[in-house]
Amino acid sequence: EVPKPYNEPYLSYAPGTPERDKLKQALSELRAKEVEIPVIIGGKRIFTGRTQDVVMPHNHKHKLGVVHKAGPEEVKLAIASCLEAREAWANMPWEHRASILLKAADIITGPERYRANAATMLGQSKTPHQSEIEAVGELADFFRFNAYYLTRIMGDQPSSPKETWNRVEYRGLEGFMFAVTPFNFTAIAGNLPTSMALCGNAVIWKPATSSVYSSYFVMEVLERAGMPPGVINFLPGDGADVGDAVFADPNLCGLQFTGSTGTFQRMWHTIGSNIQNYKTYPRIVGETGGKDFIFMHPTADVREVSVAALRGAFEFQGQKCSAASRMYVPASKWDALREDLLAEVAQIKMGDVEEFDTFMGAVIDKKAFDSITQYIDHAKGSDEAEILAGGRYDDSVGFFVEPTVILTSNPRFKTMEEEIFGPVLTIYVYEDDKLDEALTLCDTTSPYALTGAIFAKDRYAVTMMADRLRHAAGNFYINDKPTGAIVDQQPFGGGRASGTNDKAGSMQNLLRWLSARSIKENL
Ligand code: ALA
Repeated sequence: EVPKPYNEPYLSYAPGTPERDKLKQALSELRAKEVEIPVIIGGKRIFTGRTQDVVMPHNHKHKLGVVHKAGPEEVKLAIASCLEAREAWANMPWEHRASILLKAADIITGPERYRANAATMLGQSKTPHQSEIEAVGELADFFRFNAYYLTRIMGDQPSSPKETWNRVEYRGLEGFMFAVTPFNFTAIAGNLPTSMALCGNAVIWKPATSSVYSSYFVMEVLERAGMPPGVINFLPGDGADVGDAVFADPNLCGLQFTGSTGTFQRMWHTIGSNIQNYKTYPRIVGETGGKDFIFMHPTADVREVSVAALRGAFEFQGQKCSAASRMYVPASKWDALREDLLAEVAQIKMGDVEEFDTFMGAVIDKKAFDSITQYIDHAKGSDEAEILAGGRYDDSVGFFVEPTVILTSNPRFKTMEEEIFGPVLTIYVYEDDKLDEALTLCDTTSPYALTGAIFAKDRYAVTMMADRLRHAAGNFYINDKPTGAIVDQQPFGGGRASGTNDKAGSMQNLLRWLSARSIKENL
Protein backbone atom coordinates (compact mmCIF):
# COMPACT_ATOMS: atom_id res chain seq x y z
CA GLU A 1 0.00 0.00 0.00
CA VAL A 2 1.24 3.46 -0.85
CA PRO A 3 -0.47 6.21 1.17
CA LYS A 4 -1.71 9.33 -0.62
CA PRO A 5 1.26 11.68 -0.90
CA TYR A 6 1.40 15.44 -0.61
CA ASN A 7 2.95 17.95 -3.02
CA GLU A 8 6.50 18.66 -1.92
CA PRO A 9 6.67 22.17 -0.37
CA TYR A 10 9.20 24.53 -1.98
CA LEU A 11 12.05 26.20 -0.15
CA SER A 12 12.16 29.99 -0.47
CA TYR A 13 15.93 30.52 -0.65
CA ALA A 14 15.28 33.88 0.99
CA PRO A 15 18.27 35.96 2.15
CA GLY A 16 19.75 34.65 5.39
CA THR A 17 18.19 31.18 5.15
CA PRO A 18 20.45 28.13 5.56
CA GLU A 19 19.14 26.72 2.29
CA ARG A 20 20.58 29.66 0.41
CA ASP A 21 24.07 28.88 1.71
CA LYS A 22 23.70 25.20 1.01
CA LEU A 23 22.65 25.87 -2.56
CA LYS A 24 25.58 28.24 -3.08
CA GLN A 25 27.92 25.55 -1.80
CA ALA A 26 26.40 22.94 -4.12
CA LEU A 27 26.76 25.33 -7.06
CA SER A 28 30.43 25.97 -6.41
CA GLU A 29 31.12 22.25 -5.94
CA LEU A 30 29.48 21.32 -9.22
CA ARG A 31 30.99 24.23 -11.14
CA ALA A 32 34.48 23.33 -9.97
CA LYS A 33 34.70 19.88 -11.48
CA GLU A 34 34.10 18.62 -14.98
CA VAL A 35 32.10 15.43 -15.32
CA GLU A 36 32.32 12.70 -17.88
CA ILE A 37 28.83 11.49 -18.60
CA PRO A 38 28.69 7.91 -19.81
CA VAL A 39 26.18 5.71 -21.53
CA ILE A 40 24.80 3.32 -18.88
CA ILE A 41 23.75 -0.15 -19.97
CA GLY A 42 22.95 -2.95 -17.54
CA GLY A 43 24.44 -0.83 -14.78
CA LYS A 44 27.79 -0.57 -16.59
CA ARG A 45 29.28 2.75 -17.61
CA ILE A 46 30.39 2.88 -21.23
CA PHE A 47 32.62 5.63 -22.55
CA THR A 48 32.08 5.54 -26.30
CA GLY A 49 34.60 8.25 -27.13
CA ARG A 50 32.06 10.01 -29.35
CA THR A 51 31.82 13.02 -27.12
CA GLN A 52 30.14 16.38 -27.04
CA ASP A 53 30.87 19.24 -24.66
CA VAL A 54 28.34 20.04 -21.97
CA VAL A 55 28.31 23.79 -21.28
CA MET A 56 26.34 26.32 -19.24
CA PRO A 57 23.82 28.11 -21.49
CA HIS A 58 24.30 31.42 -19.64
CA ASN A 59 28.10 31.22 -19.93
CA HIS A 60 28.85 28.90 -22.81
CA LYS A 61 32.62 29.13 -22.45
CA HIS A 62 32.23 27.32 -19.13
CA LYS A 63 32.39 23.59 -19.68
CA LEU A 64 30.56 21.38 -17.19
CA GLY A 65 31.97 18.24 -18.78
CA VAL A 66 31.51 15.98 -21.76
CA VAL A 67 28.87 13.46 -22.68
CA HIS A 68 29.64 10.18 -24.42
CA LYS A 69 27.07 9.50 -27.08
CA ALA A 70 25.44 6.19 -27.87
CA GLY A 71 25.05 4.83 -31.40
CA PRO A 72 23.43 1.75 -32.96
CA GLU A 73 25.92 -0.62 -31.24
CA GLU A 74 24.98 0.64 -27.80
CA VAL A 75 21.29 0.46 -28.69
CA LYS A 76 21.72 -3.26 -29.46
CA LEU A 77 23.42 -3.83 -26.12
CA ALA A 78 20.75 -1.81 -24.34
CA ILE A 79 17.91 -3.77 -25.92
CA ALA A 80 19.57 -7.03 -24.86
CA SER A 81 19.99 -5.61 -21.37
CA CYS A 82 16.32 -4.59 -21.18
CA LEU A 83 15.17 -8.02 -22.34
CA GLU A 84 17.38 -9.70 -19.77
CA ALA A 85 16.30 -7.48 -16.88
CA ARG A 86 12.61 -7.35 -17.82
CA GLU A 87 11.27 -10.59 -16.46
CA ALA A 88 12.62 -10.42 -12.93
CA TRP A 89 11.60 -6.77 -12.76
CA ALA A 90 8.09 -7.44 -14.05
CA ASN A 91 7.66 -10.30 -11.57
CA MET A 92 8.81 -8.21 -8.63
CA PRO A 93 5.78 -7.29 -6.45
CA TRP A 94 4.71 -3.87 -7.65
CA GLU A 95 4.98 -2.36 -4.17
CA HIS A 96 8.71 -3.03 -4.28
CA ARG A 97 9.03 -1.30 -7.63
CA ALA A 98 7.09 1.63 -6.19
CA SER A 99 9.32 1.77 -3.13
CA ILE A 100 12.30 2.59 -5.36
CA LEU A 101 10.56 5.70 -6.65
CA LEU A 102 9.52 6.70 -3.13
CA LYS A 103 13.14 6.35 -2.06
CA ALA A 104 14.31 8.39 -5.08
CA ALA A 105 11.86 11.16 -4.13
CA ASP A 106 13.23 11.16 -0.60
CA ILE A 107 16.80 11.46 -1.88
CA ILE A 108 15.88 14.33 -4.23
CA THR A 109 14.03 16.24 -1.52
CA GLY A 110 16.49 15.28 1.22
CA PRO A 111 20.25 14.83 1.00
CA GLU A 112 20.53 15.65 -2.71
CA ARG A 113 18.12 18.59 -2.78
CA TYR A 114 20.73 21.27 -3.30
CA ARG A 115 22.72 19.38 -5.90
CA ALA A 116 19.51 18.48 -7.75
CA ASN A 117 18.66 22.16 -7.83
CA ALA A 118 22.20 23.28 -8.74
CA ALA A 119 22.58 20.73 -11.56
CA THR A 120 19.47 22.07 -13.28
CA MET A 121 20.46 25.69 -12.68
CA LEU A 122 23.88 25.22 -14.24
CA GLY A 123 22.96 22.82 -17.02
CA GLN A 124 19.70 24.45 -18.12
CA SER A 125 20.16 28.06 -16.99
CA LYS A 126 17.31 28.09 -14.51
CA THR A 127 16.99 30.34 -11.49
CA PRO A 128 17.02 28.76 -8.00
CA HIS A 129 13.23 29.12 -7.79
CA GLN A 130 12.58 27.62 -11.20
CA SER A 131 14.79 24.64 -10.35
CA GLU A 132 13.29 24.20 -6.90
CA ILE A 133 9.81 24.07 -8.40
CA GLU A 134 10.54 21.53 -11.07
CA ALA A 135 13.82 19.64 -10.55
CA VAL A 136 13.03 19.09 -6.87
CA GLY A 137 9.29 19.59 -6.25
CA GLU A 138 7.70 18.37 -9.46
CA LEU A 139 10.11 15.49 -9.94
CA ALA A 140 9.49 14.19 -6.42
CA ASP A 141 5.74 14.66 -6.94
CA PHE A 142 5.84 12.57 -10.11
CA PHE A 143 7.68 9.77 -8.30
CA ARG A 144 5.40 9.77 -5.27
CA PHE A 145 2.07 10.24 -7.01
CA ASN A 146 2.79 7.67 -9.70
CA ALA A 147 3.58 5.14 -6.97
CA TYR A 148 0.25 6.02 -5.35
CA TYR A 149 -1.72 5.86 -8.64
CA LEU A 150 -0.39 2.35 -9.14
CA THR A 151 -1.93 1.40 -5.77
CA ARG A 152 -5.30 2.52 -7.05
CA ILE A 153 -4.96 0.78 -10.39
CA MET A 154 -3.97 -2.50 -8.76
CA GLY A 155 -6.90 -2.23 -6.36
CA ASP A 156 -9.41 -1.78 -9.18
CA GLN A 157 -10.68 -5.35 -9.40
CA PRO A 158 -13.75 -6.92 -11.04
CA SER A 159 -16.68 -8.44 -9.16
CA SER A 160 -16.79 -12.16 -8.44
CA PRO A 161 -20.16 -13.93 -8.23
CA LYS A 162 -20.49 -16.99 -6.00
CA GLU A 163 -18.05 -19.82 -6.69
CA THR A 164 -15.95 -17.66 -9.01
CA TRP A 165 -12.85 -15.65 -8.42
CA ASN A 166 -12.38 -12.99 -11.11
CA ARG A 167 -9.34 -10.83 -11.08
CA VAL A 168 -7.27 -8.58 -13.27
CA GLU A 169 -3.53 -8.76 -13.30
CA TYR A 170 -1.89 -5.54 -14.52
CA ARG A 171 1.42 -6.42 -16.13
CA GLY A 172 4.16 -4.60 -17.97
CA LEU A 173 4.36 -5.28 -21.70
CA GLU A 174 6.64 -7.86 -23.29
CA GLY A 175 9.66 -6.25 -24.90
CA PHE A 176 11.34 -2.95 -24.15
CA MET A 177 10.15 0.66 -24.09
CA PHE A 178 11.70 3.90 -25.30
CA ALA A 179 11.57 7.20 -23.39
CA VAL A 180 12.75 10.31 -25.25
CA THR A 181 12.91 13.33 -22.98
CA PRO A 182 13.13 17.11 -23.49
CA PHE A 183 15.66 19.67 -22.28
CA ASN A 184 13.24 22.03 -20.64
CA PHE A 185 12.16 20.10 -17.53
CA THR A 186 14.30 17.84 -15.38
CA ALA A 187 11.01 16.64 -13.89
CA ILE A 188 9.64 15.52 -17.26
CA ALA A 189 12.98 13.90 -18.12
CA GLY A 190 12.81 11.92 -14.88
CA ASN A 191 9.13 11.11 -15.16
CA LEU A 192 8.98 9.49 -18.59
CA PRO A 193 11.37 6.55 -18.10
CA THR A 194 10.32 5.95 -14.48
CA SER A 195 6.57 5.92 -15.11
CA MET A 196 7.12 3.17 -17.69
CA ALA A 197 9.53 1.27 -15.46
CA LEU A 198 7.23 1.51 -12.44
CA CYS A 199 4.64 -0.50 -14.36
CA GLY A 200 7.07 -3.40 -14.84
CA ASN A 201 8.73 -2.42 -18.10
CA ALA A 202 12.39 -2.18 -19.05
CA VAL A 203 13.29 1.09 -20.72
CA ILE A 204 15.85 2.78 -22.94
CA TRP A 205 16.05 6.41 -21.89
CA LYS A 206 17.39 8.92 -24.41
CA PRO A 207 17.75 12.26 -22.62
CA ALA A 208 18.14 15.49 -24.59
CA THR A 209 21.85 16.15 -25.10
CA SER A 210 21.39 19.80 -24.09
CA SER A 211 20.15 18.86 -20.61
CA VAL A 212 22.09 15.66 -20.08
CA TYR A 213 23.86 17.13 -17.05
CA SER A 214 20.74 17.03 -14.86
CA SER A 215 19.38 13.87 -16.50
CA TYR A 216 22.57 12.04 -15.51
CA PHE A 217 22.12 13.35 -12.00
CA VAL A 218 18.59 11.87 -11.91
CA MET A 219 19.89 8.58 -13.29
CA GLU A 220 22.45 8.38 -10.50
CA VAL A 221 19.75 9.08 -7.91
CA LEU A 222 17.65 6.25 -9.34
CA GLU A 223 20.63 3.91 -9.09
CA ARG A 224 21.17 4.94 -5.48
CA ALA A 225 17.50 4.37 -4.76
CA GLY A 226 17.88 0.75 -5.88
CA MET A 227 16.73 0.70 -9.51
CA PRO A 228 18.17 -2.64 -10.69
CA PRO A 229 20.71 -2.66 -13.54
CA GLY A 230 19.15 -2.92 -16.99
CA VAL A 231 15.68 -1.69 -15.98
CA ILE A 232 16.49 1.82 -17.17
CA ASN A 233 19.36 2.09 -19.65
CA PHE A 234 20.71 5.60 -20.15
CA LEU A 235 21.58 6.40 -23.76
CA PRO A 236 22.39 10.02 -24.52
CA GLY A 237 22.96 10.48 -28.23
CA ASP A 238 21.75 11.95 -31.46
CA GLY A 239 18.11 11.31 -32.29
CA ALA A 240 18.61 9.39 -35.50
CA ASP A 241 21.59 7.33 -34.24
CA VAL A 242 19.62 6.01 -31.29
CA GLY A 243 16.08 6.21 -32.65
CA ASP A 244 16.55 4.35 -35.92
CA ALA A 245 18.06 1.32 -34.18
CA VAL A 246 15.33 1.35 -31.53
CA PHE A 247 12.45 1.54 -34.01
CA ALA A 248 13.91 -1.24 -36.16
CA ASP A 249 13.78 -3.75 -33.32
CA PRO A 250 10.78 -6.13 -33.18
CA ASN A 251 10.74 -6.02 -29.37
CA LEU A 252 9.79 -2.33 -29.10
CA CYS A 253 6.51 -2.17 -27.15
CA GLY A 254 6.19 1.48 -26.06
CA LEU A 255 7.28 5.04 -26.84
CA GLN A 256 6.89 7.96 -24.46
CA PHE A 257 8.05 11.26 -25.89
CA THR A 258 8.05 14.93 -24.96
CA GLY A 259 9.45 17.31 -27.52
CA SER A 260 8.69 18.80 -30.89
CA THR A 261 5.63 17.95 -32.96
CA GLY A 262 7.72 17.26 -36.08
CA THR A 263 9.94 14.73 -34.30
CA PHE A 264 6.95 12.97 -32.77
CA GLN A 265 5.22 12.72 -36.10
CA ARG A 266 8.34 11.27 -37.73
CA MET A 267 8.67 8.69 -34.93
CA TRP A 268 5.04 7.67 -35.25
CA HIS A 269 5.48 7.36 -38.98
CA THR A 270 8.55 5.13 -38.58
CA ILE A 271 6.74 2.92 -36.09
CA GLY A 272 3.73 2.79 -38.42
CA SER A 273 5.80 1.71 -41.38
CA ASN A 274 7.39 -1.08 -39.32
CA ILE A 275 4.17 -2.22 -37.65
CA GLN A 276 4.12 -5.72 -39.12
CA ASN A 277 7.50 -6.49 -37.58
CA TYR A 278 6.67 -5.75 -33.94
CA LYS A 279 5.70 -8.56 -31.59
CA THR A 280 3.35 -6.24 -29.69
CA TYR A 281 1.60 -3.08 -30.94
CA PRO A 282 3.80 -0.39 -29.41
CA ARG A 283 1.94 1.97 -27.10
CA ILE A 284 2.61 5.56 -28.19
CA VAL A 285 2.32 8.60 -25.92
CA GLY A 286 3.52 12.06 -26.89
CA GLU A 287 3.41 15.54 -25.46
CA THR A 288 4.51 17.91 -28.18
CA GLY A 289 4.18 21.56 -29.09
CA GLY A 290 1.96 24.36 -27.89
CA LYS A 291 0.85 27.83 -28.95
CA ASP A 292 -0.73 28.71 -25.68
CA PHE A 293 -3.10 31.61 -25.33
CA ILE A 294 -4.44 34.18 -22.92
CA PHE A 295 -7.86 35.47 -23.90
CA MET A 296 -9.03 38.60 -22.12
CA HIS A 297 -12.75 39.41 -21.95
CA PRO A 298 -13.89 43.06 -21.58
CA THR A 299 -14.93 42.30 -17.97
CA ALA A 300 -11.47 40.99 -16.99
CA ASP A 301 -9.25 42.62 -14.40
CA VAL A 302 -6.29 44.40 -16.02
CA ARG A 303 -3.81 43.74 -13.23
CA GLU A 304 -4.60 40.02 -13.10
CA VAL A 305 -4.12 39.68 -16.85
CA SER A 306 -0.90 41.65 -16.78
CA VAL A 307 0.65 39.46 -14.08
CA ALA A 308 -0.52 36.30 -15.85
CA ALA A 309 0.99 37.47 -19.13
CA LEU A 310 4.28 38.35 -17.51
CA ARG A 311 4.59 35.09 -15.62
CA GLY A 312 3.02 32.92 -18.30
CA ALA A 313 5.20 34.23 -21.10
CA PHE A 314 8.56 34.92 -19.45
CA GLU A 315 9.06 32.67 -16.43
CA PHE A 316 11.37 29.77 -17.33
CA GLN A 317 12.62 31.93 -20.24
CA GLY A 318 9.42 31.07 -22.08
CA GLN A 319 10.83 27.58 -22.65
CA LYS A 320 7.75 25.75 -21.50
CA CYS A 321 5.42 23.92 -23.79
CA SER A 322 2.72 25.66 -21.72
CA ALA A 323 4.15 29.20 -22.02
CA ALA A 324 1.72 31.97 -22.97
CA SER A 325 2.73 33.09 -26.44
CA ARG A 326 -0.33 34.76 -27.96
CA MET A 327 -2.81 37.05 -26.31
CA TYR A 328 -6.18 38.49 -27.32
CA VAL A 329 -7.08 41.81 -25.71
CA PRO A 330 -10.32 43.82 -26.09
CA ALA A 331 -9.77 47.35 -27.42
CA SER A 332 -11.55 48.84 -24.38
CA LYS A 333 -8.83 47.43 -22.07
CA TRP A 334 -5.79 47.77 -24.27
CA ASP A 335 -4.41 51.13 -23.12
CA ALA A 336 -4.57 50.16 -19.44
CA LEU A 337 -3.12 46.72 -20.02
CA ARG A 338 -0.36 48.02 -22.25
CA GLU A 339 0.76 50.49 -19.61
CA ASP A 340 0.73 47.95 -16.79
CA LEU A 341 2.36 45.11 -18.73
CA LEU A 342 5.15 47.17 -20.26
CA ALA A 343 6.00 48.67 -16.87
CA GLU A 344 6.29 45.12 -15.48
CA VAL A 345 8.37 43.79 -18.37
CA ALA A 346 10.78 46.71 -17.97
CA GLN A 347 11.49 45.47 -14.41
CA ILE A 348 12.51 41.96 -15.46
CA LYS A 349 16.06 41.06 -14.49
CA MET A 350 17.73 38.72 -16.92
CA GLY A 351 21.24 37.37 -16.46
CA ASP A 352 23.28 35.32 -14.02
CA VAL A 353 21.06 32.61 -12.57
CA GLU A 354 23.24 32.40 -9.49
CA GLU A 355 22.03 35.83 -8.39
CA PHE A 356 18.92 35.09 -6.41
CA ASP A 357 16.84 37.99 -7.74
CA THR A 358 17.33 37.06 -11.41
CA PHE A 359 13.99 36.40 -13.09
CA MET A 360 15.22 34.96 -16.39
CA GLY A 361 18.29 33.00 -17.44
CA ALA A 362 19.51 32.20 -20.94
CA VAL A 363 17.78 30.00 -23.49
CA ILE A 364 19.17 26.52 -23.80
CA ASP A 365 21.56 26.59 -26.75
CA LYS A 366 22.61 28.18 -30.02
CA LYS A 367 19.96 26.34 -32.01
CA ALA A 368 17.17 27.66 -29.75
CA PHE A 369 18.71 31.14 -29.75
CA ASP A 370 18.82 31.25 -33.58
CA SER A 371 15.31 29.95 -33.95
CA ILE A 372 13.77 32.39 -31.43
CA THR A 373 15.64 35.40 -32.74
CA GLN A 374 14.52 34.67 -36.29
CA TYR A 375 10.94 35.18 -35.13
CA ILE A 376 11.88 38.46 -33.48
CA ASP A 377 13.63 39.60 -36.68
CA HIS A 378 10.61 38.63 -38.71
CA ALA A 379 8.45 40.90 -36.55
CA LYS A 380 11.01 43.71 -36.78
CA GLY A 381 10.89 43.55 -40.56
CA SER A 382 7.11 43.46 -40.89
CA ASP A 383 4.68 46.35 -41.22
CA GLU A 384 2.04 44.17 -39.54
CA ALA A 385 3.97 44.10 -36.26
CA GLU A 386 5.51 46.42 -33.72
CA ILE A 387 7.98 45.48 -30.98
CA LEU A 388 6.61 46.99 -27.76
CA ALA A 389 9.26 45.65 -25.40
CA GLY A 390 12.55 43.77 -25.63
CA GLY A 391 13.54 42.61 -29.08
CA ARG A 392 17.27 42.56 -28.40
CA TYR A 393 19.46 39.49 -28.02
CA ASP A 394 23.10 38.65 -27.48
CA ASP A 395 24.90 35.31 -27.47
CA SER A 396 28.43 36.54 -26.84
CA VAL A 397 28.53 35.21 -23.25
CA GLY A 398 25.32 33.23 -22.92
CA PHE A 399 22.27 32.66 -25.08
CA PHE A 400 20.30 35.65 -23.87
CA VAL A 401 17.07 36.82 -25.48
CA GLU A 402 15.21 39.75 -23.95
CA PRO A 403 11.60 39.24 -22.91
CA THR A 404 9.85 40.48 -26.04
CA VAL A 405 6.32 41.78 -26.54
CA ILE A 406 5.02 42.11 -30.10
CA LEU A 407 1.81 43.85 -31.12
CA THR A 408 0.30 42.71 -34.40
CA SER A 409 -2.56 43.93 -36.54
CA ASN A 410 -2.81 40.52 -38.20
CA PRO A 411 -4.40 37.82 -35.99
CA ARG A 412 -2.73 35.19 -38.16
CA PHE A 413 0.72 36.78 -38.05
CA LYS A 414 3.54 34.19 -38.03
CA THR A 415 4.28 34.74 -34.32
CA MET A 416 0.57 34.27 -33.49
CA GLU A 417 0.54 30.89 -35.26
CA GLU A 418 3.83 29.10 -34.79
CA GLU A 419 5.44 27.73 -31.66
CA ILE A 420 8.51 29.84 -30.77
CA PHE A 421 9.57 28.17 -27.49
CA GLY A 422 11.19 31.29 -26.10
CA PRO A 423 10.37 34.55 -24.29
CA VAL A 424 8.18 36.11 -26.99
CA LEU A 425 4.55 37.16 -26.49
CA THR A 426 2.44 38.42 -29.38
CA ILE A 427 -0.70 40.47 -28.75
CA TYR A 428 -3.69 41.00 -30.99
CA VAL A 429 -6.25 43.65 -30.01
CA TYR A 430 -9.83 42.85 -31.02
CA GLU A 431 -12.83 45.22 -31.16
CA ASP A 432 -15.15 44.58 -28.19
CA ASP A 433 -18.11 44.00 -30.46
CA LYS A 434 -16.13 41.32 -32.34
CA LEU A 435 -15.72 39.01 -29.34
CA ASP A 436 -17.23 36.07 -31.16
CA GLU A 437 -14.88 36.40 -34.10
CA ALA A 438 -11.90 36.74 -31.75
CA LEU A 439 -12.88 33.50 -29.99
CA THR A 440 -13.01 31.72 -33.34
CA LEU A 441 -9.53 33.07 -34.12
CA CYS A 442 -8.25 31.86 -30.78
CA ASP A 443 -9.67 28.39 -31.44
CA THR A 444 -8.45 28.03 -35.02
CA THR A 445 -5.25 30.04 -35.47
CA SER A 446 -2.80 27.36 -34.39
CA PRO A 447 -2.86 23.57 -34.83
CA TYR A 448 -2.04 23.09 -31.14
CA ALA A 449 -4.24 22.61 -28.08
CA LEU A 450 -2.00 22.38 -25.04
CA THR A 451 -2.79 25.17 -22.57
CA GLY A 452 -4.85 28.33 -22.57
CA ALA A 453 -6.27 30.86 -20.15
CA ILE A 454 -9.38 33.01 -20.19
CA PHE A 455 -9.93 36.04 -18.02
CA ALA A 456 -13.42 37.41 -17.26
CA LYS A 457 -15.37 38.57 -14.23
CA ASP A 458 -18.78 37.98 -15.82
CA ARG A 459 -19.82 34.41 -15.02
CA TYR A 460 -21.89 34.07 -18.21
CA ALA A 461 -18.82 35.09 -20.18
CA VAL A 462 -16.73 32.48 -18.36
CA THR A 463 -19.12 29.65 -19.22
CA MET A 464 -19.62 30.83 -22.79
CA MET A 465 -15.86 31.15 -23.44
CA ALA A 466 -15.02 27.85 -21.78
CA ASP A 467 -17.61 26.23 -24.02
CA ARG A 468 -16.40 27.92 -27.22
CA LEU A 469 -12.81 26.91 -26.49
CA ARG A 470 -13.71 23.38 -25.39
CA HIS A 471 -11.03 21.68 -27.51
CA ALA A 472 -8.51 24.53 -27.70
CA ALA A 473 -6.50 23.44 -24.64
CA GLY A 474 -5.96 20.22 -22.67
CA ASN A 475 -5.09 22.39 -19.66
CA PHE A 476 -7.54 25.26 -19.41
CA TYR A 477 -7.21 28.04 -16.86
CA ILE A 478 -9.87 30.50 -15.76
CA ASN A 479 -8.53 33.73 -14.30
CA ASP A 480 -5.03 32.26 -13.98
CA LYS A 481 -1.91 32.00 -16.13
CA PRO A 482 -1.70 29.01 -18.50
CA THR A 483 1.45 27.57 -16.89
CA GLY A 484 2.51 25.87 -13.70
CA ALA A 485 0.44 22.69 -13.63
CA ILE A 486 1.01 20.81 -10.37
CA VAL A 487 1.12 17.03 -10.22
CA ASP A 488 -2.20 15.60 -8.96
CA GLN A 489 -3.82 19.05 -9.08
CA GLN A 490 -3.88 19.74 -12.83
CA PRO A 491 -3.00 16.57 -14.77
CA PHE A 492 -1.01 17.83 -17.75
CA GLY A 493 -1.31 17.34 -21.51
CA GLY A 494 -3.07 18.52 -24.63
CA GLY A 495 -4.80 17.37 -27.78
CA ARG A 496 -4.77 18.24 -31.50
CA ALA A 497 -1.12 18.69 -32.61
CA SER A 498 -0.03 19.01 -28.97
CA GLY A 499 -0.07 15.32 -28.24
CA THR A 500 -2.01 12.25 -27.24
CA ASN A 501 -3.23 13.92 -24.04
CA ASP A 502 -2.33 10.98 -21.79
CA LYS A 503 -1.88 13.33 -18.85
CA ALA A 504 1.60 13.18 -17.30
CA GLY A 505 1.42 12.13 -13.67
CA SER A 506 -1.96 10.39 -13.78
CA MET A 507 -3.51 6.95 -13.60
CA GLN A 508 -4.47 7.36 -17.24
CA ASN A 509 -0.80 7.70 -18.19
CA LEU A 510 0.25 4.64 -16.20
CA LEU A 511 -2.51 2.55 -17.80
CA ARG A 512 -0.75 3.01 -21.14
CA TRP A 513 2.25 1.09 -19.79
CA LEU A 514 0.25 -1.82 -18.40
CA SER A 515 -1.33 -4.74 -20.17
CA ALA A 516 -4.15 -6.41 -18.25
CA ARG A 517 -4.77 -10.13 -17.96
CA SER A 518 -8.34 -10.99 -16.94
CA ILE A 519 -8.44 -14.21 -14.99
CA LYS A 520 -11.58 -16.22 -14.20
CA GLU A 521 -11.25 -19.10 -11.82
CA ASN A 522 -14.02 -21.50 -10.81
CA LEU A 523 -13.84 -22.11 -7.09
N1 ALA B 1 3.82 21.28 -16.60
C1 ALA B 1 4.43 22.50 -16.98
C2 ALA B 1 3.48 23.65 -16.83
O1 ALA B 1 2.34 23.43 -16.60
C3 ALA B 1 4.95 22.43 -18.36
O2 ALA B 1 3.87 24.76 -16.96
